[in-house]
Amino acid sequence: MSLRTLSRALAGTLLPLGTLQQAPGGLSSAAAAAASGGGWRHAWRRFSAAAEGEGETISVTFKDEKDGSEKTVRVPLGKSLLEAAHDNEVELEGACEGSLACSTCHVIVEDQEYYDKLPEPDDDENDMLDLAFGLTDTSRLGCQVKCQRFMDGIALRIPSASNDQQ
Ligand code: FES
Repeated sequence: MSLRTLSRALAGTLLPLGTLQQAPGGLSSAAAAAASGGGWRHAWRRFSAAAEGEGETISVTFKDEKDGSEKTVRVPLGKSLLEAAHDNEVELEGACEGSLACSTCHVIVEDQEYYDKLPEPDDDENDMLDLAFGLTDTSRLGCQVKCQRFMDGIALRIPSASNDQQ
């Protein structure tokens, strides 16, 4: 089946062909679903999930400055670094549960290259970061950074103390 035929068949949408080609595993997974008898509706769902990165994970390493321990975990795309830590029993506080009212989820991105690719912190995050213990040029609040593909392999230091302004 040609790409053009598949593109037209998928729910009769005007989906640009390039979208199908760029989605990770999207085309092959949609075609496989259709071929296996699941129909185009099922194929479309599989394609959409692949395009959104559903089920994909990235590698994140937490290094705790308190005790020198290090843990590398797999984190689903879209989860915050704070959620990633809590899901994997990494000691990162998060006293306000992500409502930007503390700075206890402060993490330091080890590699400047990763830091530079992250979306800029907004004013509220910067205000809280200013109060963080041991602030550095690559500091972020873990609750405000959501995992994206380009972050695969990122390493984060957890400072030896935190400042809870609540
Ligand atoms: S958990 Fe309080 S600001 Fe992130």
